Amino acid sequence: MTDVANRLTEREALALAVSVARRGPGGGANPRVGCVILAPGDPASPRSVLGVGWHRGAGTPHAEVAAIAAARTADPAVNLTGATAIVTLQPCNSTGRTGPCAHALASAGIARVRYAVEDPAADRAGSDAYLAGHAVDVRGPRRFEPGEFDEIALDSARELVHAWLSSMALGRPYVTLKIATTLDARIAAPDGTSQWITGAAARANAHEVRAEVGAIVVGSGTVAADDPTLTARTAEGGLAEHQPLRVVLGLRDVPAQARLRGPGGELVHIRSRDPRAALRTLADAGVTHALVEGGAQVSAAFLRAGLADEITAYIAPKLLGGGLSAIADFGVATLADAAEFAFLSPRMLGEDVLLTARARPETFHGKDR
Ligand SMILES: NC(=O)c1ccc[n+]([C@@H]2O[C@H](COP(=O)([O-])OP(=O)(O)OC[C@H]3O[C@@H](n4cnc5c(N)ncnc54)[C@H](OP(=O)(O)O)[C@@H]3O)[C@@H](O)[C@H]2O)c1
Repeated sequence: MTDVANRLTEREALALAVSVARRGPGGGANPRVGCVILAPGDPASPRSVLGVGWHRGAGTPHAEVAAIAAARTADPAVNLTGATAIVTLQPCNSTGRTGPCAHALASAGIARVRYAVEDPAADRAGSDAYLAGHAVDVRGPRRFEPGEFDEIALDSARELVHAWLSSMALGRPYVTLKIATTLDARIAAPDGTSQWITGAAARANAHEVRAEVGAIVVGSGTVAADDPTLTARTAEGGLAEHQPLRVVLGLRDVPAQARLRGPGGELVHIRSRDPRAALRTLADAGVTHALVEGGAQVSAAFLRAGLADEITAYIAPKLLGGGLSAIADFGVATLADAAEFAFLSPRMLGEDVLLTARARPETFHGKDR
């Protein structure tokens, strides 16, 4: 263990588990999960960190198994009997490409498990019951003592898996519409220029978001107008480790010289105008979170079909008056039929504002779910 503090409280261990979970790929078939194993001792006191693990993507060990392995690698003589596992998500209790984590924890001798977010599938599979049946003191968020864990860390743990859990519940990829607009919601000026509306900090954030999704979707109109690369890039300008699928929706060909044929994620051209069919294709490819980056018509098509779960809006303090609106007409004729969303906390990014808004399921675009 070289990169973590030697002794942590359980609260600090959860913050660490969240931060290592972020190293895993987002938007795919499996969730991002982190786990920290603390030595036996008084739960209220700092204890030695024995192992830290996170899930690196479908088919690789889950976070709990990775943390157990890390503890054994760090000290082949380590005894995990009586240790505590702090996990960002409820341990699984089913066999997929890897074995059940609840079994791995119990058979390693872990005596206490705290997990920040419930996983309905793990619950259905009897994860808590299995652990409790093997004398493990297991608790999830419903049974935490007041103040046992930091609300910010719990929130971050929920955000890590929000799209993944929603996708499981919806039976299709979770969809985030991303727009970068002026204050009057324009995504291009009357002469067609659109790069760049927002500043460097907003664009850097957008690249971080791309690195956390399974697919970026754009319409063939955006490919023709902007010739985007649709890659996730690091602050230094290189390609991020995880590259989402690059998906083009529309009937016309993707030009042979298009930049999105260059280095980056796999190109998937869906020759259709049906967002629902597109999501089926993406679900088959293991995508659980799709980022729709426009343009105006394709964003409208997702809204019209009731398939926009979240809006990520980067808003620049500029006005254009004319130009292309962020979202084309999607069938709302009267205010009462507006698609309604609830804002999360706004965030300043340089001179721009990032607004994230989540669909209210009871409104217009919830009806079709
Ligand atoms: N600032 C930003 O955040 C941002 C982001 C993206 C784009 N933009 C700007 O947006 C503009 C492009 O937007 P756009 O609305 O013209 O293009 P678009 O939405 O990217 O693409 C429209 C094309 O997509 C295809 N398509 C697929 N499904 C469709 C559906 N359900 N309904 C309608 N068309 C569908 C159609 O082409 P086929 O004939 O091939 O089927 C259609 O012509 C550009 O000016 C670009 O710079 C800005």
